[in-house]
Amino acid sequence: MKVAVLGAAGGIGQALSLLLKLDLPAGTDLALYDLAPVTPGVAVDLSHIPTAVTVTGYGKEDLNKALVGADIVMIPAGMPRKPGMDRSDLFNINAGVVKTLAEAIVQQCPKALVGIITNPVNTTVAIAAEVFKKAGTYDARRLFGVTTLDVIRAETFVGELKGKNPAELTVPVIGGHSGTTILPLLSQVAGVSFSDEEVASLTVRIQNAGTEVVEAKAGGGSATLSMGQAAARFCISLIKGLQGETVNEYAYVEGDGEHARFFAQPLVLGKNGVEKLLPIGTLSSYEQQAMNAMLGTLKADITLGEEFVKNN
Ligand code: NAI
Repeated sequence: MKVAVLGAAGGIGQALSLLLKLDLPAGTDLALYDLAPVTPGVAVDLSHIPTAVTVTGYGKEDLNKALVGADIVMIPAGMPRKPGMDRSDLFNINAGVVKTLAEAIVQQCPKALVGIITNPVNTTVAIAAEVFKKAGTYDARRLFGVTTLDVIRAETFVGELKGKNPAELTVPVIGGHSGTTILPLLSQVAGVSFSDEEVASLTVRIQNAGTEVVEAKAGGGSATLSMGQAAARFCISLIKGLQGETVNEYAYVEGDGEHARFFAQPLVLGKNGVEKLLPIGTLSSYEQQAMNAMLGTLKADITLGEEFVKNN
């Protein structure tokens, strides 16, 4: 098994790579690629941790070598937010980054499972899909926007509010990965009930949790450690799926298009990536209203990505 991390020298990339070095199955090759000159050093550093995962660093010119034969590609490459920025402000830089990396995936590992972390995820996933489609290699079951951070944040905040162990909670989060497109389904949390006020404030907190980190880091970037953990959890779930286990996760994927072309939803992972899409279940009237109100934004974000590939 080979896992490639593109953007491996960044805040998320380093945290993710550390966790993968610790948690990937024995015998896995971990390929770290980044434009930053420190990348080979990050790989040497990690290689001194005694696990049976082989780490190799690839510099700026070696994208193809990093990707060749990869089974899974995780992409946290690109610029993070600064205070006052919306995720969509990152589009101008990150759209081109994801397009370039997707084009290399087409050449080197067209069958890989690809997890996109680079924001704005609502749009960058559409960009990757369109690049793959143009090349004739697109398989919707193999492309994911990583929204695991929204799920773990929701579980943490519900646990805090209700005095429960977050590890024992499951909080569905559907839709997209920015602002109001992030839709936690608090009505579906088993064994916990909320007042209307709690639903309203918790929903907003989950939607703005990224901004909470951006402001607390005061210009020093956005979530990297919690995102590293979220991405590692998702990557390990992809691996388990490839190894024949059935694993339930949430991710932003091209599904049946009922709500939008790409939509974060529950799914089952298996040997080909998405094995099965699961229904989002019954929404409360608050959630239904929130969903109706955000679908226009989500669809516009997706169109932006589709148009970007068409015009570039
Ligand atoms: P960072 O600035 O610390 O690291 C980004 C890395 O990407 C840098 O090392 C940079 O050299 C590298 N890079 C840039 N262009 C590249 C290219 N063409 N090829 C390879 N590497 C390239 O940023 P951080 O904090 O790690 O965030 C990365 C991305 O993840 C941002 O777009 C951020 O908005 C996003 N993000 C996504 C989340 C999610 O839930 N999906 C949560 C938090 C951040």
